[in-house]
Amino acid sequence: MNEEFIREEQGWIGQDITVLETVGSTNQLLRERLTRENVPPGAAILAFEQTQGRGRSGRNWLSPRGQGLYASVVLYPPRIQHGGILSLLAAVALTDAIREVTGLSAGLKWPNDGILDGKKYSGILVEAGTTPILWAIVGMGINVRGRFGADQFPHAITLEEAGAKNMSLESLWQSIAHHLEARYERWLVEGNLSVIEAWRSYTVTLGKTVVAQGSLGTVTGMAEDVDEQGRLLIRQASGLIPVSSGEVSIRASDGSYA
Ligand code: BTN
Repeated sequence: MNEEFIREEQGWIGQDITVLETVGSTNQLLRERLTRENVPPGAAILAFEQTQGRGRSGRNWLSPRGQGLYASVVLYPPRIQHGGILSLLAAVALTDAIREVTGLSAGLKWPNDGILDGKKYSGILVEAGTTPILWAIVGMGINVRGRFGADQFPHAITLEEAGAKNMSLESLWQSIAHHLEARYERWLVEGNLSVIEAWRSYTVTLGKTVVAQGSLGTVTGMAEDVDEQGRLLIRQASGLIPVSSGEVSIRASDGSYA
């Protein structure tokens, strides 16, 4: 990837960009940079490989060299409560970009998993803190090239496997940065509903029976909607249960959950 090319084409997201051959985790490196210096909003780190890629819920994110896009961007949201909505916002922007660049009908599983052919091709990890000022790092991992063995990774897919051709990491990044910037600026003006409406239009979760495993335990029921904070609302006999974080599995027609 050519840093100059990327920078010239960029708005404020990705204007300050570091492209590395290999790194432990782009999220971690950006976090370390925040503790050392003033980092402009939209500063990004991209890597061709991560040796300690981090996923949600303490999992690893497999990040083999040249096979994926691994990127982190720093934002300074107005309030700390915005972590949840930012995670949906980033997922919507990523889906905008994937649809634009590949023409594939990419969808979203709550909260922010990118889905193609019922399998996960991308994930987002938002980490936030308050020192030295309120910050949020949006980390995005996209499985671009190569193949996942169906035996070992039955629920994962790459863009290539889903039918995307001649993927260029540069154009993918350009499109993500552009859409992230546009969605973020719109959100600052219009608020959460602009994000929620777009998320609803992309999701494959709503209307399905799901199992949500979160910090407060397991909730099973119909995924009815998301509220203005981006919480998933699951219908149970007792009423709607809001789930603010965790993993969701969707019930398939054969009764299995994935
Ligand atoms: C998930 O578990 O679905 C989230 C995966 C997020 C992976 C990305 S890759 C770039 C950034 N750096 C990391 O260490 N993780 C995120």
